[in-house]
Amino acid sequence: MQTVRDIATWQRARKRADFANCTVGFVPTMGALHEGHTTLIERARRENDRVVVSIFVNPTQFNDPKDLEEYPRTWAEDLVRAEEAGADWVFAPPAEEMYPDQARFRVSESGLSNILEGAQRPGHFEGVLTVVMKLLQLVRPDRAYFGEKDLQQLLLIRDTAEAFFLPVEIIGCPTVRAPDGLALSSRNALLTPPARAKAATFAQVLQTVTEPAAARQQLTDAGFEVDYIENHEQWRLGAVRLEGIRLIDNVRRDEVALRANGGTTSASSAARTEPD
Ligand code: PAJ
Repeated sequence: MQTVRDIATWQRARKRADFANCTVGFVPTMGALHEGHTTLIERARRENDRVVVSIFVNPTQFNDPKDLEEYPRTWAEDLVRAEEAGADWVFAPPAEEMYPDQARFRVSESGLSNILEGAQRPGHFEGVLTVVMKLLQLVRPDRAYFGEKDLQQLLLIRDTAEAFFLPVEIIGCPTVRAPDGLALSSRNALLTPPARAKAATFAQVLQTVTEPAAARQQLTDAGFEVDYIENHEQWRLGAVRLEGIRLIDNVRRDEVALRANGGTTSASSAARTEPD
């Protein structure tokens, strides 16, 4: 695996024979890699000749400076995980090179980016879409892999790539969960042990309580600060805070109905971000 930490070196490498006549799979990340990330890298490995992982803690998508400052950074471990999962390249550019214009140019969207997560975190999706469009231009992958864990992000990136006619396939991958059901997230590491234990209730309630208002009430009673629990198209999305740490998750509405009725959800969620 090769590591590149500046844009000029990356652009030279991307032009070289190593990439000629190869399909390229790309997994953008902000580091602090866990199994949610490595699952994406492993899938990219299976489906492409070359696998590129980016590690870039993108300042423009953090609406809260404290969140940016406290975001976990685990560079040495990340390199080991990326390599074990099958990455050929780790591209980790510095912020000054990604934003030489101090983010004068941005990619914005005027619908989905303003609701749910977007309503709670002004500017967040503009930062995400801006950095992802920059990264896609730099990496020029055939396929780029994103987790359904961040469903709204995945839907917005897919729509933006289509709107700008980018020749890339945006692939959604199922959420990887801890054994107790909590969706894996780099932010989980910031929870104290009691809060981490309680966090599993978020996924359980989100997945089993049919009415959003009832789910909100149960979570509030359990000690969560609820930002939103809302149905959107075929999904139920939620965001809560525990000890000030923000957790997000989502589930298909037909799965909530199944679980509420005591059924099992054996149906694979692999195609869940595809239109029904
Ligand atoms: P980050 O939070 O590091 O996540 C990188 C990718 O891993 C995203 O596509 C995310 O949805 C996916 N991921 C995280 N946890 C997951 C889980 N438990 N199961 C499945 N996939 C999971 O999302 C970002 O970074 C940034 O916004 C980024 C797209 C890199 C732009 O800066």
